[in-house]
Amino acid sequence: MSARTPPPRGAASPTWPLDREAVGRVVASQPFELRRASIRQIGKLVDALERELGRRFVRMELGVPGLPLHPKAIEAERAALGERGVGHVYAPFEGVPALKRAAARFVELFLDLDVPAECCVATVGAMQGCFASILLASRMHPDRQTVLCLEPGFPVNKLQIRMLGLERATVDFYDHRGATLVRAVEERAQRGDLCGILWSSPNNPSWIALDERELEGLAGVCDRHDLLAIEDLAYCGMDVRYDYLTPGRPPYQPTVLRYTDRAVGIISSSKMFGYAGQRVALAILPPGLFERECPALERFYGARRVGHAFLHGGLYPITASVAHAPQYGLLALLEAANDGDRSVFAPAVEYARRARILKRLFLDHGFALVYDNDQGRPLADGFYFTVSYPTFDDGTALLGELLHYGVSAITLELTGSERKEGLRACVSRTGDAEFPLVHERLACFRRDHPA
Ligand SMILES: Cc1ncc(COP(=O)(O)O)c(C=O)c1O
Repeated sequence: MSARTPPPRGAASPTWPLDREAVGRVVASQPFELRRASIRQIGKLVDALERELGRRFVRMELGVPGLPLHPKAIEAERAALGERGVGHVYAPFEGVPALKRAAARFVELFLDLDVPAECCVATVGAMQGCFASILLASRMHPDRQTVLCLEPGFPVNKLQIRMLGLERATVDFYDHRGATLVRAVEERAQRGDLCGILWSSPNNPSWIALDERELEGLAGVCDRHDLLAIEDLAYCGMDVRYDYLTPGRPPYQPTVLRYTDRAVGIISSSKMFGYAGQRVALAILPPGLFERECPALERFYGARRVGHAFLHGGLYPITASVAHAPQYGLLALLEAANDGDRSVFAPAVEYARRARILKRLFLDHGFALVYDNDQGRPLADGFYFTVSYPTFDDGTALLGELLHYGVSAITLELTGSERKEGLRACVSRTGDAEFPLVHERLACFRRDHPA
């Protein structure tokens, strides 16, 4: 079964659902099928529905940060281009030295790790950091061309793996946590074809967060099988169940870098600081990895030392550097964070507030969370959450139906999840003004789809 046949337009609300024929026409006019649509294509479909039907949707499909940028970053970028006059010269492609120092201090104060500035590398978003790390993992072991993804995850990482001609293996968090997760990863690693393991934690989309014991276990697997852990900390510090945002004071952001040198940690500024548009992030390579000699790299990077290969053979030929001004912008945000100015983390706090309210609205209207606990504990509130509805066992059908009620999301299938019934909802574009709309629309949905 996919969905019950929905009743015609409800009497209680004259406006929801939308005219089925009109929605059907717009959906059919797209050059893709809803079931196979990428996130961007779903975004385009919702743009078209808004345009053609003249109605504003509650947009929960794209993970696009939507809060104003901190004035410290704006001022630092302005000064970089103005007083510093850096716009006409190439930036150092490993990162501006002051940024690297501030990054090392940030990593010390918020992750409790001692990493030299040299090993903190600026990348064009976590996107580039992940790409360069996946590439590195595959080049360190040319005879092992499979990346194990802990799922669900960021759909773009899957594109990166495919584009690099690599294979993707998966283990789903849904039924693998704690010792079971580590065991499943160990078993998969024993097949001998893996070069790396990739995950995001807090996790896009389930918002589960790996704990220190799981990370220690995964580090052990990486050490035993010589795998590169690619730890995507796109949501660093954003597990709001704990205060990870006070510098130099525990608890610290859990990280696999505490347990192994066979890892790259990637810290995005897009969500934590709401600094997505300027495309700057940090890749943290432990010194033991940075200095490691790996003869297999010579052929691809012209260098054996991992740090040199990553920078000179990986990042440099792709983008040469992160633009100067965003490097200075991130420097200002890191320095403020390091000095205890919590205002720079305002986006992280706001997203959690929204998630708390939105999750409640969905639950109150008969939806359930798909990934509904974190090793038996309640999930944190964050950038995403996952939902299903009792009378739908197919996420595409649920999405198709929700679109008639002016609410958009993406299917969990797109994120690599084995839970085909669910959707991922992103809170970033849904603030106070939209909460009453969500309430009204979900109420109409429930009225028309009694469970
Ligand atoms: C898990 C994950 N990694 C990476 C990114 C991209 O981050 P950035 O904007 O720093 O490239 C995202 C953005 O949604 C994400 O969810």
